[in-house]
Amino acid sequence: MQPVRIAPSILSADFARLGAEVQAIDQAGADWIHIDVMDGHFVPNISFGPPIIKAIRPLTTKPFDVHLMIAPVDRYLDAFAEAGADTISVHVEAGPHIHRSLQHIKSLGKRAGVVLCPGTPAKSLDYLLELADLVLVMSVNPGFGGQKFIDNQLKKIAAIRKMIDASGRDIDLEVDGGVDHDTARRCIEAGADALVAGTSVFKDGPDGYARNIAGLRAG
Ligand code: DX5
Ligand code: ZN
Repeated sequence: MQPVRIAPSILSADFARLGAEVQAIDQAGADWIHIDVMDGHFVPNISFGPPIIKAIRPLTTKPFDVHLMIAPVDRYLDAFAEAGADTISVHVEAGPHIHRSLQHIKSLGKRAGVVLCPGTPAKSLDYLLELADLVLVMSVNPGFGGQKFIDNQLKKIAAIRKMIDASGRDIDLEVDGGVDHDTARRCIEAGADALVAGTSVFKDGPDGYARNIAGLRAG
């Protein structure tokens, strides 16, 4: 298996210096840039949308890992693709037509991700894996950075690892929420191969980014 990919979440960045922050995490070794889009409806918080993604797109060549916490979602997929997303991840819980959303993302030539909230079982992936390039397991309830990792999600990560291996498909297994040095190791042991981290990357300011990213990758 390839080394775990680290995707710092810019939700924890200094928004007044967002361009410089994106360049700093790129230089510090981020594999992907994780971009949390929140609508104040699907989740109780509002962040940013396509114009911000478009503005930072020229500042790095690292893939944009766009996590959509919005409902409805389908009508916005084209805009996120045009803004520069590489992977577009949508929640199983965001509406009745997740299968269609994944088909739509693939038709735009983008990598399709499917996201499960902590209360959603692994089984909900049964008829979706064939369309997925990435599965994102939420280890907190979505909406805010800085929350505590929910331990029982490790069992779900292990179950999904088995499902992915059985599928024979090349699907990334990413974990998002409360990932720090300790929980990163446990996620990797359970089968994760990509980790989102906000607080634990950004907490020490720019001088700590490279150290914190490397620490998470080492598990
Ligand atoms: C939560 C977001 C996460 C969050 C991670 O809804 O999807 O990406 O920003 O932040 P930390 O690492 O602080 O839990
Ligand atoms: Zn996220």
